[in-house]
Amino acid sequence: MIFFAGWSSVLESSGEKSLKTKRKILIFDTTLRDGEQSPGASLTIREKLRIARQLVRLGVDFLEAGFPASSEGDFQAVKAVAREVKGAGVAGLARCLPKDIDSAFRALEKASRPRIHLFLATSKIHREFKLGKAKEEIVRLAVESVKLARRYVDDVEFSPEDAARTELSFLAEVVREVIAAGAGTVNIPDTVGYSTPEEFSEIIHYLHKNVPNLGRAVISVHCHNDLGLAVANSLGAVKAGAGQVECTINGLGERAGNASLEEIVMALKVRKDYWGVATGIDTRQIYKTSRLVSHLTGIAVQRNKAIVGENAFAHEAGIHQDGVLKERTTYEIMSPRDVGVPRSRLVLGKHSGRHAFREKLKGMGYSLSDAELEDAFEKFKRLADKKKQVFDEDIEVLVDEQIQAVPEIFTLVYLNVTTGTTTIPTATVKLKKGEKIMQDASCGDGPVDAACRAIDRITGIKGELRSYELRAVTAGKDALGEVTAQVRVAGRVVTGRASSTDIIEASVKAYLNGINRLAGRLSRARSGGEGGAKA
Ligand code: KIV
Ligand code: ZN
Repeated sequence: MIFFAGWSSVLESSGEKSLKTKRKILIFDTTLRDGEQSPGASLTIREKLRIARQLVRLGVDFLEAGFPASSEGDFQAVKAVAREVKGAGVAGLARCLPKDIDSAFRALEKASRPRIHLFLATSKIHREFKLGKAKEEIVRLAVESVKLARRYVDDVEFSPEDAARTELSFLAEVVREVIAAGAGTVNIPDTVGYSTPEEFSEIIHYLHKNVPNLGRAVISVHCHNDLGLAVANSLGAVKAGAGQVECTINGLGERAGNASLEEIVMALKVRKDYWGVATGIDTRQIYKTSRLVSHLTGIAVQRNKAIVGENAFAHEAGIHQDGVLKERTTYEIMSPRDVGVPRSRLVLGKHSGRHAFREKLKGMGYSLSDAELEDAFEKFKRLADKKKQVFDEDIEVLVDEQIQAVPEIFTLVYLNVTTGTTTIPTATVKLKKGEKIMQDASCGDGPVDAACRAIDRITGIKGELRSYELRAVTAGKDALGEVTAQVRVAGRVVTGRASSTDIIEASVKAYLNGINRLAGRLSRARSGGEGGAKA
């Protein structure tokens, strides 16, 4: 049985002959909040803004920009997103504490559609061991907090944290009371990814049957992926009448992550015959959003990831290839074009001029200032000298690198490495800081290790390479290598990125990029403060 959440419906051409009225499922993206809680995924304000703009292009209904009370950095990021983003509702997370609610409101003040998202744990295990609070106190706190938040904004969402492990009768009581207090959305989180599709949809059915005022709110779901069931659980809940799904790009999030936006949206689209619902997502923006998030968080997308993985549309078996050539739908249930997977296209050669380059960038959706264009053009020329064919993907990496450039406290001016099967790997590095040139040399396990050690000696900052990924941007032996490195210094982790046709140079520059980010953050923290707890 399908319950309707009493939310707006959309009139959509279903591809069949007649127009159908479909229930609209709201997409609440939490990449910038729960997604950013993935270890090592922290984003700067500029990076959050870039992702937020892209999420608006993607067509999400709400985007959760952060947890303002958790740190000054998060507060400023939510504030910046709230001020700029106009095409989607902007949410800020808050505990059921007056200071959190106040902080969320101050961060969201300039948003055109602000939403305060309150959470408080309700399960027995959380009540006893985490909060040390009885049921009555939980209900009282939840109700008071919703009322307080409603004094600030019209749109309040409440999440009974660990709802999936909460006694059903108590969950129904909390949901009823927060709706009566003014919550317009009640989110049911499977905080620890413990539920199963059938069980989770039964929770939604139970609430429909046992919460008399449920029709006054949208029921949302928020599933974690600890058992790999986040998407299945969310879809089960949609079938049972949930009107909003909380999810993240590439399934990022705490521990094993959240339900992946692209999988939810494409499941609902490809199997619209089964689900009978629609979303407002422009699916052609999915691939671009996925790449951007992966690039900025430094968290790679696994090759065989559904929808956005490199292999998602690759056919290896001869029988499959033959089938697809005869009729694409024999082995493809959706077209790469539906999710915006670009085809590698040759861009320009080394003889191409500024005008053609500017037109190319425009076509790719970039709008750069004259100075930025000049810089990008110089980089393109240098690359075209080294690489015979320059593709869209190469240009994307060059321009993205430039847009995200962090102020270079240390600049690499010289790198020489000696390595081989019978040689001790050695590196000599020269860095520039202001007007000063500094140099040092070191041995290491390999040329990258040797160069990083030399950088540590020069900068006096001892970094540890926590993770390292090298990706060939396109095919070919002369491909641009893009390196993403997570560097840990004194307990803080930063992501460094760089690209070059020389992978040793790309590796060393990525490491230095991480060191520069950290040095920048430390100086910002000294003059204002960053850091703090997360949800
Ligand atoms: O997983 C969870 O319970 C959360 C809440 C804050 C919604 O992220
Ligand atoms: Zn969560």
